[in-house]
Amino acid sequence: MARLKVGVLISGRGTNLQSLLDACAEPAFPAEIVLVISNQPGAAGLGRAERAGCATRTINHREYPDRPAFDAALDQALNEAGVDFVCLAGFMRVLSAGMVERWRDRMINIHPSLLPSFKGLHAQDQALAAGVRLAGCTVHFVRPATDSGPIIAQAAVPVSGDDDAGSLAARVLEAEHRIYPLALGLIAEGRVSVVDEKVVIAGMETAAGTLINPAEA
Ligand code: GAR
Repeated sequence: MARLKVGVLISGRGTNLQSLLDACAEPAFPAEIVLVISNQPGAAGLGRAERAGCATRTINHREYPDRPAFDAALDQALNEAGVDFVCLAGFMRVLSAGMVERWRDRMINIHPSLLPSFKGLHAQDQALAAGVRLAGCTVHFVRPATDSGPIIAQAAVPVSGDDDAGSLAARVLEAEHRIYPLALGLIAEGRVSVVDEKVVIAGMETAAGTLINPAEA
């Protein structure tokens, strides 16, 4: 079966991109990354893509007069590369509603919180300020409102009494690296659909297990 052709948009270090590159390096994985685009020149993630033998582009938002013009350049690059599906991986630009609609149900994002809690920047500071005992991360389809859209996968991690934003972000990041390839693989297998703005995953109707923090005696 043909592999899903994926474009990944990044702005920085690219550890989530790396988890996707690693998954796609497996011959049995149903997706391949055909283009990585950074809006930040010199982003570390570009080097990760190059080392994996993946095509890269830098499309610097500062060189465009407005958001729609920048988004049009992204759209053109994705289409020229034959991209079918887009993963945002630490891409720190808000996309215009038009761009989001063009890629509706063909664009996903990873966010370092259990959405709909703690949208926007500094998710772990928000989680610590709220005193939650479980933090986590979410992969979701992109909709025009920031950090919203049908949820495909989530992972929860416990918050420790001595956590700061850095230690909690590191624990959440490990979970991000597990659920992003998981979600992309399910989509590329054709098992994920959006029904009434909620995700249905074929063959995964039941779930089991409870993560409790504090641990039971
Ligand atoms: C990740 O924690 C990702 O969830 C977050 O930025 C980080 C990027 O790290 N994304 C957002 O906050 C988007 N709202 P990475 O460049 O190492 O993948």
